Amino acid sequence: MPLRVNQKPRCSVSRLTLSSSLLSLLFLSVFLLSVLPSANAQSGGQAHPWSNPQLSPDDRAAMVVKEMTLDEKISMLHGTGMAGLSPLSPLIIHSNGGAGYVPAIPRLGIPAIQMSDAAYGVRSSGENGRYSTALPSDLAAAASWDLDAAYAYGALIGRELRDQGFNMTLGGGINLTREPRNGRTFEYLGEDPVLAGKLVGSVMNGLQAQHVLGDIKHYALNDQESGRNAVNVKIDRRSARESDLLAFEIGLQESNVAAVMCSYNRFNGDYACENKYLLTDLLKNDWNFKGFVVSDWGGTHSAAKASAAGLDHEEPGWIFYSDELKADVESGKVSTAELDDHVRRILRSMFATGVVDDPPKKGVVDVIGNMEIAQHIEEQSTVLLKNDHSLLPLDASKVRSIAIIGPHADVGMISGGGSAQVDPPGGNAIMPPGHGQTHWQDHVWFPTSPLKSVQAKVSGASVQFDSGSNLDAAAALAKTADVAIVYVYQWESEGMDLPNLSLPDNQDALIAKVAAANPHTIVVLETGTAVTLPWAGQVGAILEAWYAGSKGADAVANILFGDVNPSAKLPMTFPRSEADLPHPTVVKPPKATTDADSQGWKRIAQGLPSFDVTYDEGVKVGYKWYDAENKPVLFPFGFGLSYTTYSYSNLKVEPGKNPRVTFTVTNTGNRAGAEIAEVYVFLPSAAAEPPKRLVGWSKVKLNGGESKEITVDVDQKFLSIFNVEQNNWQLIPGDYTFRVGGSSQDLPLKESVSLK
Ligand code: BGC
Repeated sequence: MPLRVNQKPRCSVSRLTLSSSLLSLLFLSVFLLSVLPSANAQSGGQAHPWSNPQLSPDDRAAMVVKEMTLDEKISMLHGTGMAGLSPLSPLIIHSNGGAGYVPAIPRLGIPAIQMSDAAYGVRSSGENGRYSTALPSDLAAAASWDLDAAYAYGALIGRELRDQGFNMTLGGGINLTREPRNGRTFEYLGEDPVLAGKLVGSVMNGLQAQHVLGDIKHYALNDQESGRNAVNVKIDRRSARESDLLAFEIGLQESNVAAVMCSYNRFNGDYACENKYLLTDLLKNDWNFKGFVVSDWGGTHSAAKASAAGLDHEEPGWIFYSDELKADVESGKVSTAELDDHVRRILRSMFATGVVDDPPKKGVVDVIGNMEIAQHIEEQSTVLLKNDHSLLPLDASKVRSIAIIGPHADVGMISGGGSAQVDPPGGNAIMPPGHGQTHWQDHVWFPTSPLKSVQAKVSGASVQFDSGSNLDAAAALAKTADVAIVYVYQWESEGMDLPNLSLPDNQDALIAKVAAANPHTIVVLETGTAVTLPWAGQVGAILEAWYAGSKGADAVANILFGDVNPSAKLPMTFPRSEADLPHPTVVKPPKATTDADSQGWKRIAQGLPSFDVTYDEGVKVGYKWYDAENKPVLFPFGFGLSYTTYSYSNLKVEPGKNPRVTFTVTNTGNRAGAEIAEVYVFLPSAAAEPPKRLVGWSKVKLNGGESKEITVDVDQKFLSIFNVEQNNWQLIPGDYTFRVGGSSQDLPLKESVSLK
């Protein structure tokens, strides 16, 4: 069957057809590796001078580089292949079944790098005969605005990677939600660079504390999937630095992340993976990034050019970074110093994160403990968007009948697809037993049953299910019940963009029909991005549960019945319609760039004809766009309700290099809760910026009636504009108005200070 561009079967050795010569090579390599001492065996002891953990990672890396042959150096700079994306090396037999594998150098005690995708959990675990917990999607975690939860998110993934024998994640997506129809929006952290950057920093700190190499991706401006290998993104430098690139800058500032993955697209002309401005001028020089740059899978397009631009490592194969790079080094086209810098960066990161001193040991995943964490994070991430007449929380002692309606709401909740896909423990809930595989771009429903979770809350009540496939039947059931809860979904995945922000499969009509039959209709959204909700005025309550992970249904039930008070807030705007977006449609590539066959990766490597996407909205991403254009929205950035209410008072702003903002938040109800208090700034008009920007926040727990004083120190960079001529951040002298409150459109406190 021909392969489509971007269709990427997982590399599974058992599924390959091997020729006899390949087989002999394979046996030879198995034999050779079995008689050689293992890298790990040596790395723990003092066999080499660089084994001493007291030395700095830089010194240790420099010592190793000195001892390496040219072939050993080259072997560290590329992967060993992936079916459908490159040729396969016989060495791949030692891969742990992840997306990337770089063989060990046992002679020097350097372990292999075993990379796995791990956006919301470790990928391909089912197919590898292992287990992974699925956390709520990254976008969901962003809705928690909770740096501790983000750390726990990263730490859980780090532990499970190690338990499964991996020492590097390929998670860490932070492309800004510039285009909400981007099919990977669920893998990213929303539309604001400060929120996304801080959160990814925390995720990476949690992950790397487990001695796993971290990675932030896709650098940069890979904000749509359509034609991702061909698209040339055009944007002015100031806007790029203040939006998408700022998210990376903050993420790197917050964590010593080991790797940055350069993206597929071109950025202002050059491919991101051979873009000197992105990789060297900005990342390695201005930001002083000490780690290594890994190409996205098939994102490398040259040897000498990419090397000079700052690409350190090619994945998944060795189209450019093997023979060609070696010849370039031998001929002097690529200097040894440049080659050594690539190798040193990889080794340095391995020493710094502890993957040499503390290699992963396969173990039993803490299934129960990690399920609890996944549930807790979903409880912090589910956003209450509407709650008329306090319909929620439901009183389990009073409700007598509940209708659970919606596709597969009896058995599962949807997840996001592509390389982020986690295999559901228990199998895909809608597949017959024994057919639980997760194929590329299948819809995968996690076996976390909304019906059962609600039933467990109300032993005395009647809880009945209808799939919603027949609208009349669903409405008839809703009519008989005290309350109707409609679970609806929107699926998305890597390798595609959504045609629009509507719920698919006639679900809008289903909700309208149910709402007409029962005024106590509650809608639970399982979506990967914003959705337009034409029926929003007709239903009593709306919860955004996102892709809710392994324990999604229990977490949502806890919110429905008030065991948990919702506290999450939207990390992205929900627009009224696609017509209000900066671009009415996603720009599609010309046909020639989408046609592909099983050798499509060769055409991608050579370079597909490019097409332009111009981000002329510039810095106006998300709420900055709607504010600047005076467009009303359905639900604003930073919005989310609670079962209690909060008030804000006593704002004080101490001017200074990093202004200190203090204010008081009071829980004015009698139920304990957590409020995300948001701080925005309106810059002086001379700055020529969109009306306001988020500069900080604090999530505060408050008992009923309790007040707390909150302090937020604002980084001067967040108040600055990017001056392209000076290549630096610049504070424009003038009046800065600080606004504080519970949503980007509800900011009761205001104080202006003069800054210079
Ligand atoms: C994706 C990356 C992923 C890699 C390895 C690429 O297609 O864009 O996010 O890490 O594949 O699976």
